[in-house]
Amino acid sequence: MANRNHFTRSVSRHLPFGEKRDTRFYGMHIVSVEQFDRQDLDTIFEVAREMRSMVERVGSFDLLKGKVLANLFYEPSTRTSSSFAAAVQRLGGSVLQIDNVTFSSVSKGEVLQDTIRTMESYTDAIVLRHPEEGSAAIAASVATKPIINAGDGPGEHPTQALLDMFTIREELGRIDGLTVTMLGDLKYGRTVHSLARLLALYDIRLHFVAPDILHMPAALVEKLKEQGMAPCEHVDLADVLPETDVLYVTRVQRERFDDPSMYEGVKGSYVVAPETMAAAKERMIIIHPLPRVDEISMEMDDDPRAAYFRQMENGMYVRMALLALVLGKA
Ligand code: NCD
Repeated sequence: MANRNHFTRSVSRHLPFGEKRDTRFYGMHIVSVEQFDRQDLDTIFEVAREMRSMVERVGSFDLLKGKVLANLFYEPSTRTSSSFAAAVQRLGGSVLQIDNVTFSSVSKGEVLQDTIRTMESYTDAIVLRHPEEGSAAIAASVATKPIINAGDGPGEHPTQALLDMFTIREELGRIDGLTVTMLGDLKYGRTVHSLARLLALYDIRLHFVAPDILHMPAALVEKLKEQGMAPCEHVDLADVLPETDVLYVTRVQRERFDDPSMYEGVKGSYVVAPETMAAAKERMIIIHPLPRVDEISMEMDDDPRAAYFRQMENGMYVRMALLALVLGKA
């Protein structure tokens, strides 16, 4: 413990806050991955590595002492919510958790804008998960404190995409030149919507594998093409698995279906199991934002290519980095 102050000082010295480029994160809303360029990702990754090493050495330190983070969740969450809570607490701050909105004024019909105005008057930043696409942008339009989008319906999930990218970089040592295959619910899966946009910053070969009714939205595919990507769409995973470096598996998003029979028709369309993976490279990774339902068999968990639990751990380091950059003083 004698080292704690020493570490706080050494973090401040080593974190690249002093450089002009990195102060651009200070006070920023994080609504869409479209805000970021490659240099931003390098900065976030560098700080995330620093956070990992500090957690391993000292557990927590006082970079954000006195800061209060609001965790405002209108949809269920395990990892996003708890990793943000752990992240701010490991940085010396605290968290105000509002995840049972039926006990809040939301159940009395309060509009999102008023709830945001309230939460920002008590806290220093708001992490928001909400079922409607565009809700984070609405929140950011009224907020004077940073809004961090933790999932806006089927729209985006930018912090997940950042931790996905960090995982790919740490696991495979590079991002450029890889073949990435996204599998499952590409229509409603917000994590793949954000990740595909971020991958467009790199030299990537992209494959989409989905049941007919769960294709990647056409507007997003068009956008990726305008950015110079040439994503190929498939129904059969076997067509692309042998060349895949990153297999990104997603859950069919049951809660987004209006018609339950449509969900019943596509659930269980893909199951990644040891037999499936016999055709895959020896050096590749399987990642998944979690929760998984049945799309990755539990028998896969001991396979060294199964990187989803390491990815989940990375979530805390990346969120620590984001909070430090957004809330930390230069
Ligand atoms: C994802 C989400 O909420 O979009 N989960 C997460 O944040 N790790 C994926 C999902 O729910 O399927």
